[in-house]
Amino acid sequence: MWLRVLTVLFLFVAGVCLGLKVTVPSHTVHGIRGQALYLPVHYGFRTPASGIQIIWLFERLHTMPKYLLGSVNESVVPDLEYQHKFTMMPPNASLLINPLQFTDEGNYIVKVNIQGNGTLSSSQKIQVTVDDPVMKPVVQSHPDSGAVEYVGNITLTCQVKGGTRLVYQWRKNGKPVCINSSHSFSPQNNTLWIVPVTKEDIGNYSCLVSNPVSEVESDVITPTIYYGPYGLQVNSDKGQKLGEVFTVDLGEAILFDCSADSYPPNTYSWIQRSDNTTYVIKHGPRLEVTSENVAQKTADYLCCAYNNMTGRRDEARFTVVITSVGLEKLAQKGKSLSPLASITGISLFLIISMCLLFLWKKYQPYKAIRQKLEGRPESEYRKAQTFSGHEDALGDFGIYEFVAFPDASGIPRMPNRSGPAPDGVTGQDFHGTVYEVIQHIPAQQQDNNTMERRESS
Ligand SMILES: *[C@@H]1O[C@H](CO)[C@@H](O)[C@H](O)[C@H]1NC(C)=O
Ligand SMILES: *[C@@H]1O[C@H](CO)[C@@H](O)[C@H](O)[C@H]1NC(C)=O
Ligand SMILES: *[C@@H]1O[C@H](CO)[C@@H](O)[C@H](O)[C@H]1NC(C)=O
Ligand SMILES: *[C@@H]1O[C@H](CO)[C@@H](O)[C@H](O)[C@H]1NC(C)=O
Ligand SMILES: *[C@@H]1O[C@H](CO)[C@@H](O)[C@H](O)[C@H]1NC(C)=O
Ligand SMILES: *[C@@H]1O[C@H](CO)[C@@H](O)[C@H](O)[C@H]1NC(C)=O
Ligand SMILES: *[C@@H]1O[C@H](CO)[C@@H](O)[C@H](O)[C@H]1NC(C)=O
Ligand SMILES: *[C@@H]1O[C@H](CO)[C@@H](O)[C@H](O)[C@H]1NC(C)=O
Ligand SMILES: *[C@@H]1O[C@H](CO)[C@@H](O)[C@H](O)[C@H]1NC(C)=O
Repeated sequence: MWLRVLTVLFLFVAGVCLGLKVTVPSHTVHGIRGQALYLPVHYGFRTPASGIQIIWLFERLHTMPKYLLGSVNESVVPDLEYQHKFTMMPPNASLLINPLQFTDEGNYIVKVNIQGNGTLSSSQKIQVTVDDPVMKPVVQSHPDSGAVEYVGNITLTCQVKGGTRLVYQWRKNGKPVCINSSHSFSPQNNTLWIVPVTKEDIGNYSCLVSNPVSEVESDVITPTIYYGPYGLQVNSDKGQKLGEVFTVDLGEAILFDCSADSYPPNTYSWIQRSDNTTYVIKHGPRLEVTSENVAQKTADYLCCAYNNMTGRRDEARFTVVITSVGLEKLAQKGKSLSPLASITGISLFLIISMCLLFLWKKYQPYKAIRQKLEGRPESEYRKAQTFSGHEDALGDFGIYEFVAFPDASGIPRMPNRSGPAPDGVTGQDFHGTVYEVIQHIPAQQQDNNTMERRESS
């Protein structure tokens, strides 16, 4: 018992050490049904051999291994059941299977025994698959008539008449189609659903079908997708375009071109608008306007694009201005926007500056009055009262709003009749202030004012 184990072990070690080596280029070989399949095997050894034995076995899942054929030296001993199917040319260990059938699918085991100083043994396993090649797929688009963007759906089906183990791949413009919110596949991947279709789905679709032995791509199909109109714009052959305004010289004819992206092509209509009424003047993508025919200096137009499949429309309004002046003037008109903007800017700046100055003037002297008045003895008020002639002058202080009119020099305007202030407070601003308060005195107090003037001078 132990001796046997040791012998096996020895033989195994010897087999490795003495270099019997069986190799196969590939452990998996894909065959085509009905054709011959060749299973290449190489072996080599470095020991004197008195005999070479090669055995081929076949095993399928869940079945007993089957003997196919064997050889000693150069004589082959086939299994009589399979003798016409399997061929071997010893000492070449490669096996030829001809013809290949689906039932030939499974694992093929090759065992090589070398008889010399003891026996060396080695084996390999090759998995064989059998397939029918793929026939050219055909792609169909449903609905055939096409689908409206965001409304309709498109279903692409890939049909293959022959082939086994088919793997489907959808391609759009040569690149694989990915699953996303609007693209999905059937479990087999042989159907592509586009729900809903968009303009972006326009393209050349094809179906690539493959199996272990072949790969065939269908012809491209371009599903019909109705979309638009998008990007409507009006252009002219001459004249100047400023946004929606075209200027054209008097006497010139101008050709307008209306275009928008859509499928099928839009139908275009041109509409003139005047005094709240609109009327269609032309159908078609082009409109010629001769300036003589335009009664007014300006005319409003509308280009309307309509897609009769999507049922959507878009319109662009524009104005034609007829000018009798030269193009230079027109060009200036074109640039008139920026001077206008700068004038507006400067005006705004000036208004804000004046407001700020006004506010500053309003609060600065007011504070000065308050400060000065607080430190003034009551006798001075009385004096002021006397001079002003206003009975309630004392109570009036600090109540009135001060109004200053700055002149170019920036010094508050001082009426020429004002002399030094009666209260004797120095400071130009303050003098001005007191005077302005007195100005509110009604007309019948005029005499007192004269008196004040006399006093001052
Ligand atoms: C195989 O060939 C060798 C010599 O190459 C010979 O010694 C041996 O007897 C042969 N074996 C058989 C079974 O014919
Ligand atoms: C075995 O035979 C095939 C042709 O039947 C040949 O292509 C191959 O090279 C041979 N292999 C060896 C190891 O001689
Ligand atoms: C055969 O094997 C024996 C022992 O394993 C060894 O003594 C002998 O030299 C070997 N002969 C050859 C020819 O390798
Ligand atoms: C498109 O598919 C959606 C969702 O499956 C469905 O609600 C809709 O009716 C389909 N539209 C058309 C035009 O078949
Ligand atoms: C989905 O993927 C396709 C390309 O595989 C692309 O054309 C389409 O715009 C995508 N749709 C969305 C909603 O991302
Ligand atoms: C279908 O295609 C997707 C992506 O292209 C892939 O991940 C998936 O394995 C495929 N399914 C089958 C059954 O081929
Ligand atoms: C789709 O195929 C047509 C010709 O069959 C070709 O003219 C067109 O450029 C292709 N489109 C794209 C996006 O590859
Ligand atoms: C839609 O407009 C196209 C031209 O753009 C025209 O050939 C087609 O007959 C129109 N279809 C319908 C249903 O009006
Ligand atoms: C245009 O119509 C509006 C109301 O629809 C009206 O108020 C306006 O006066 C009309 N203008 C002219 C020029 O008729």
